[in-house]
Amino acid sequence: MTILVFDSGIGGLTLLREARIIMPEHRYVYVADDAGFPYGDWEEDALLDRMMTKFHELVERHQPVMIMVACNTASTIVLEPLRKAFDIPVVGTVPAIKPAAERTSSGQISVLATPGTVQRDYTRSLVSEFASSVNVRLVGAENLAAIADKYMVTGEVDETAVWEEIKECFVDRLGARTDVIVMGCTHYPFMGDVCRRLAPWPVDWLNPAEAIARHAKTLISSTSDVTDVQDIAEFTGGNPKPEMLRFLSGFGLKVN
Ligand code: DGL
Repeated sequence: MTILVFDSGIGGLTLLREARIIMPEHRYVYVADDAGFPYGDWEEDALLDRMMTKFHELVERHQPVMIMVACNTASTIVLEPLRKAFDIPVVGTVPAIKPAAERTSSGQISVLATPGTVQRDYTRSLVSEFASSVNVRLVGAENLAAIADKYMVTGEVDETAVWEEIKECFVDRLGARTDVIVMGCTHYPFMGDVCRRLAPWPVDWLNPAEAIARHAKTLISSTSDVTDVQDIAEFTGGNPKPEMLRFLSGFGLKVN
């Protein structure tokens, strides 16, 4: 049975990785809408139209048993329309604000996400619903998803540029320091080593991928028939570069 995993780029592979661990019997089609990357800069209505058109075509062609939206920026607007349009489970990726609020000892948490995600009502209501008793700093990182994309594929990273993107996350209010940072974009867990190295003090970097994969597993019936059909990746922008193909092949994905 095929599961469709969708992101604006290759960040959603951080969720695919967990989904494969938790639900290894399924086949995965990974779609990167790289022609629309970065989603963080889009106006809400235009982005919603774009994604719905793509999803109609993808569901028709791949007949998935479930959709996983492996992108926070997309999930803040597309989950309800997808659930109305398709009769299959739709799993989203939303910033892990509730677990962060439960976990903090200092009462100071930060949410690191794209500018789109931090602006959305969806994110603001997660904060008021689940984190009203703690201090939350929302940090919209303009370039971190693109930096992560490059780092994943080439291993190259400009640490000064990364620090510029993440430094606002570190708050020290009279000794009460940020102790949990939500990775509110699926690209960021790939930068975990760099972020930890640059952090001025240790913090928990929250990546919700495992919890999302576990939740997804409860929504579809498990099967003992292990699918041996090749997992594939599709890029809306056309032909990916050779280094990208190599990277994806290391991930066990053949580009369609
Ligand atoms: N991976 C996407 C997310 O989780 C964001 C990258 C982009 O801006 O397109 O929000």
